[in-house]
Amino acid sequence: MNFEPKILGFLCNWCSYAGADLAGVSRMQYPPNIRILRVMCSGRVDPEFFFEGFLKGIDGIILTGCHLGDCHYLEGNYEAMMKFDLVKRLLSLINFENRVRLEWVSASEGKRFAEIVTDFTNHIKEQGPSPTRTDNPDPVLVEKLKALKNAAGDQRLRALVGRERKITEQGNVYGEVISKEKFDELLNLAIKDEFERHWILLMLQKEPKSVKGIAKELKIDSSEVLKHIVSLRNQNLVALERIEGLSPIYVRIGEN
Ligand code: FES
Repeated sequence: MNFEPKILGFLCNWCSYAGADLAGVSRMQYPPNIRILRVMCSGRVDPEFFFEGFLKGIDGIILTGCHLGDCHYLEGNYEAMMKFDLVKRLLSLINFENRVRLEWVSASEGKRFAEIVTDFTNHIKEQGPSPTRTDNPDPVLVEKLKALKNAAGDQRLRALVGRERKITEQGNVYGEVISKEKFDELLNLAIKDEFERHWILLMLQKEPKSVKGIAKELKIDSSEVLKHIVSLRNQNLVALERIEGLSPIYVRIGEN
């Protein structure tokens, strides 16, 4: 199949964009599939941007920044690494994690930029077109991507990701240091919970549903759904609308 991927590239202004510029003025060849978005720092790229890109039918997204230690805002690229890790974990829930990449490119590395773009384009060609690229993408996949996007913007999840170094190196408020393995386990659990909660919110926004109805659509256990409903009710995001037969029917309220 003659497939030309649509690739979105976020390039930091001070290193990677200058690297891309050098590749251009040096007439280095690389595939024309990439559309470049210049940002001031790789740390500026919000995790939600990745999901927005895939919702718009992009096949692959690459984020590039200054090498570690060279960020013009000191630690922006460390932040980018943490955010990118969250994005990959979220994308792995829909098997999209191979459609994103993070690379460091300095202003003098025009050749490296051209090689990275070539390699990533070939890699995305191997992956095939994104299932969201068609005019009528699978509505379940679209809902999942929207739920992932909302989960990526969730403040509790971001706070957990932002404290990784502190929790695994210096310890929590009680001075307890949690191992990286334990932290990963907790983070993956929190990610799965937030994804399911945001998916439930999207569902209830369209129409009120029972726990059983939600469990059937999400293909998860009713006890898990009930746990999420209790949490969402505590946050005033969901309320009981009516009782149908013996089943409580829940509705979405308030803002996200
Ligand atoms: S300025 Fe380039 S990564 Fe921060």
